Amino acid sequence: MNSEDTKIRDEFPLIKSDRVIYLDNAATTQKPQCVLDAVNDYYAKHNANPMRGLYDLSLEATDAYESARAKAASLIGAEYPEEIIFTRNATESLNLIAYSYGLHNIKAGDEIIVSVAEHHSNFLPWVNVAGLTGAKVVYWDCEPDGSFDIGRLNDLLSEKTKLVAITHVSNVIGRINDIRAIADAVHKAGAIIVCDGSQSVPHMKVDVRALDVDLFAFSGHKMYAPMGIGVLYGQKKLLDEMPPFIYGGEMIESVTKERVTYAEVPHKFEAGTVNAGGAVGLGAAIDFMNGYGYDLMEERERKLTAHAFDAMSAMPYITIIGSDDAKDHLGIIAFKVEGVHPHDVTAIFSDSGVAVRAGHHCAQPLHKHLGIMSSTRVSFAFYNTMEEVDRFLEVLEGIRGKMGIQ
Ligand SMILES: Cc1ncc(COP(=O)(O)O)c(C=O)c1O
Repeated sequence: MNSEDTKIRDEFPLIKSDRVIYLDNAATTQKPQCVLDAVNDYYAKHNANPMRGLYDLSLEATDAYESARAKAASLIGAEYPEEIIFTRNATESLNLIAYSYGLHNIKAGDEIIVSVAEHHSNFLPWVNVAGLTGAKVVYWDCEPDGSFDIGRLNDLLSEKTKLVAITHVSNVIGRINDIRAIADAVHKAGAIIVCDGSQSVPHMKVDVRALDVDLFAFSGHKMYAPMGIGVLYGQKKLLDEMPPFIYGGEMIESVTKERVTYAEVPHKFEAGTVNAGGAVGLGAAIDFMNGYGYDLMEERERKLTAHAFDAMSAMPYITIIGSDDAKDHLGIIAFKVEGVHPHDVTAIFSDSGVAVRAGHHCAQPLHKHLGIMSSTRVSFAFYNTMEEVDRFLEVLEGIRGKMGIQ
């Protein structure tokens, strides 16, 4: 470990405790002390129901909540803070789009194009919308290396297409999709693009305006923030036109027995008491990430990934899912160990003090398309070290022997 490793790891109580070699960062990341402190400080000193009271404490709570919104907007290059809607997680953001935009703009006979690499969170909401409206889900298959061919997309797009759902970075393959090129093709066909940024925002600089995405979702807990806070970004004009998703307190302008008018965005989409502590935690996580900067985080994660990838590629009994170039794996490597079930692989890692993930990673259609049932996934955050990767590789090399395979 070098001094940079130590400095970073000292920020994370759970990582610093050396309880486990934590390599399941695509599922969720650990939390730095500054984020824990910010949440604690909010509840200890500033807590009231935001947006509800005109007394000082409530105004302070509102300020804390709205300041987190401004930080999230600036992080992803949104034009206005109101383009950021706080939700529980990426899943809720994507369901909000499906229930609000989907059910009001998609009808029988229309088509929704969904990439085969989607996490179930950007897959099942569209299957549901299709079931409720009579629209059809059309699948955009990836190539064997996990890349998406725009030529194939152009063949699928037609005047029937209303929406294209695609992930920015796959949580299995780890590949960065060329969202700007996809958005251009989608817009040319008169449809909108819904992009899932759950695995991109934690690891790379994202600019939603440069990508020209209409709607974009991500979760705080995968980027050092608490669980229970997520983001939906939408272009303001589109959000203005979309109806509310959940109805109740704080999302109205006026209510009488005869007539209801709704609040402006973002409040129209944030009914009920909000997760102010979570938002404050997200704001602190964004400050924390900005403090180190994406350049440093990306470089560290790239080196860790390349080191693991090169060694794994040299093991004849390992098959890596997706591209055979480490550069196409943004901190994520899913793999098969010949002759050993992923659950056994993960159990052996766990017995050796290494946390990795096994299963279909909520991406069953992708696994089926690639002809596999499940895989093991190792995923990095910038607090991981080369020593941890070496330990991971050492355990990996011994797995077949432990299972009695020569
Ligand atoms: C690509 C992708 N999309 C969506 C999600 C869902 O995130 P959440 O469970 O935070 O809603 C995940 C979580 O693993 C993911 O990796």
